[in-house]
Amino acid sequence: MTVAEALLDKQEIFPPPEAFAAAAAIPGMAAYRTLMAEAERDYEGFWARLARETLSWKKPFAKVLDETAAPFYKWFEDGRLNASYNSLDRHVEAGHGNRVAIIFEADNGAVTRVTYRDLLLQVCRFANALKKRGIKKGDRVVIYMPMSIEGIAAMQACARIGATHSVVFGGFSSKALHERIVDVGAVAVITADEQVRGGKVLPLKQIVDEALAMEGCDAVQSVIVYRRTGGNIPWVAGRDLWMHELTRGESDSCEPEWVSAEHPLFILYTSGSTGKPKGVQHSTGGYLLWAAQTMKWTFDWKPGDIFWCTADIGWVTGHSYIAYGPLVLGGTQVVFEGVPTYPNAGRFWEMIARHRVSVFYTAPTAIRSLVKTSELDPNTRPTAYDLSSLRLLGTVGEPISPQTWRWYYDQVGGGRCPVVDTWWQTETGGHMIAPMPGATPLVPGSCTLPLPGIMAAIVDETGQEEPNGQGGLLVIKRPWPAMLRTVWGDPERFRKSYFPEELGGHLYLAGDGATRDKDTGYFTITGRIDDVLNVSGHRLGTMEIESALVANPLVAEAAVVSRPDELTGEAIVAFVVLKRQGPGDGDARQLADELRAWVGKEIGPIAKPKDIRFGENLPKTRSGKIMRRLLRSIAKEEGITQDVSTLENPAILSQLGKSY
Ligand code: WTA
Repeated sequence: MTVAEALLDKQEIFPPPEAFAAAAAIPGMAAYRTLMAEAERDYEGFWARLARETLSWKKPFAKVLDETAAPFYKWFEDGRLNASYNSLDRHVEAGHGNRVAIIFEADNGAVTRVTYRDLLLQVCRFANALKKRGIKKGDRVVIYMPMSIEGIAAMQACARIGATHSVVFGGFSSKALHERIVDVGAVAVITADEQVRGGKVLPLKQIVDEALAMEGCDAVQSVIVYRRTGGNIPWVAGRDLWMHELTRGESDSCEPEWVSAEHPLFILYTSGSTGKPKGVQHSTGGYLLWAAQTMKWTFDWKPGDIFWCTADIGWVTGHSYIAYGPLVLGGTQVVFEGVPTYPNAGRFWEMIARHRVSVFYTAPTAIRSLVKTSELDPNTRPTAYDLSSLRLLGTVGEPISPQTWRWYYDQVGGGRCPVVDTWWQTETGGHMIAPMPGATPLVPGSCTLPLPGIMAAIVDETGQEEPNGQGGLLVIKRPWPAMLRTVWGDPERFRKSYFPEELGGHLYLAGDGATRDKDTGYFTITGRIDDVLNVSGHRLGTMEIESALVANPLVAEAAVVSRPDELTGEAIVAFVVLKRQGPGDGDARQLADELRAWVGKEIGPIAKPKDIRFGENLPKTRSGKIMRRLLRSIAKEEGITQDVSTLENPAILSQLGKSY
């Protein structure tokens, strides 16, 4: 049975619109299969062809894939290139200097357009200024900035001089920022005085100062500050520099640092199974190739498109589909400073109409919240706006339910636009499993099939491949160019987390569970198999939150699980044992709020537990193991069906029944 035949049995399938398919980069399943077959026949040749076609190389590579130190794979290592040259110079050299690179819309609606030429000059001046501060190839620079042209320029300027950037999301606390600055060994921090989101002004520089006042940041020589609001901020003479003063008078030409394709372009921290975040290290060549190639395939990007990815540059989506992918192709994109609900929940639709956005990429959590608000206020319904410019929609970050998918498809896309549900991770660099919009018939709730060249499979706990129809662990069978290269400073953690011996040591373990449709082979992601939570599309480790809670002087023990939540996908539920006697009903609420604020300070507001449940103890087996499955049932308030006979202390179950 072919995929097309199998799909006939499915109730809800959405084949690509004919006109869309006819003009698409991958114009049908036959074309998709041809590419897949090419990769299967000559894996290295396939990737080499794409790398030559998509990127500009200063020195061409001779060797494609080096597997001698597997799983520490190397791609195109003897080739030399520069990410900033590929993103900017080459478009100006090709005569596209006047093309708009970024349409920036500020929180208050003010619009700034920057052309490729202007962006190149800005990046060159900034790169020269960084060099003047002694920052050089291989140095690590932390970027803690709002959504801005300057934030993207900062990333590009680092890439231009071969410095490795590590962007920290502006919603992280000073403690979380400090941990990352120390772990990555930063020599400089680039930030802004303040950020503006949803009409509110929030500090950034002050948080940087708090972080740098903690132990272990001596390597940081420069704090470079973009003036966004002009608000009052603390200042350390000698160390702190205004971006506009530092770049004033700098030359607007700067020879790119030609680096090996394996040179680390960036390190991005993400949550794993232990309390300490992992510094996911990416390469220059392989990463850049995939950021651009997936733009062409998944987003069917074409000259003339107005692309808008609503992610923050603090996450991998903002790296691949704002700071690099669209620029490498010479595209025009919208960059937005604010939030979807300000000044009202019609903001996204209003902006799509204003800027004539053709390809729109956002998170299911944002869609869910806008479904809700549009029910309350008809003026914020997508159908109240002219969204006729749209031709393609995408989602990322978490599962999207078939109902939410349908709303997105019907209400936003007007039933015309394919919806690409893209499965990927910080570690994978770019899309891995996603529909090719001119080829793949869509099934709501499924991310469908792997991209050409990506060998995805589902295996059992021993690494045996499961037949279609069976669920299991999602793995990637062969290395791909955009994969992470290591965990910064912890190669053993890289090997153990991603290439575990239990599976044979050669399969990339994604950490997600998945199923494949019996007939079509379509993938559906069923959620994390480890202790990682997904709250509004943000990855958080349960142990990270537990460590934050037990760092509070009042807390003796804590366990964190999640429960489903209508808006945020998952919600954080914390079970807390206090050092003193459990709180009475009266002060439990106040204490819960204190602990939430505490976690906000330790990690960031995104990590605040929604529910807190106090008990004199946690449910444990006689051997002392916390019964997490039981906690999950309590968190969901679904009634306990598990066997509790092995429980050491059944009496505490009634205490945990109350949530604050
Ligand atoms: C989840 C974001 C279902 C998954 C790019 C993965 C998804 C984690 C999808 C990575 C999707 C991402 N459907 N689940 N389309 N996309 N996920 O590193 O659990 O922030 O492992 O990268 O998000 O999150 P990360």
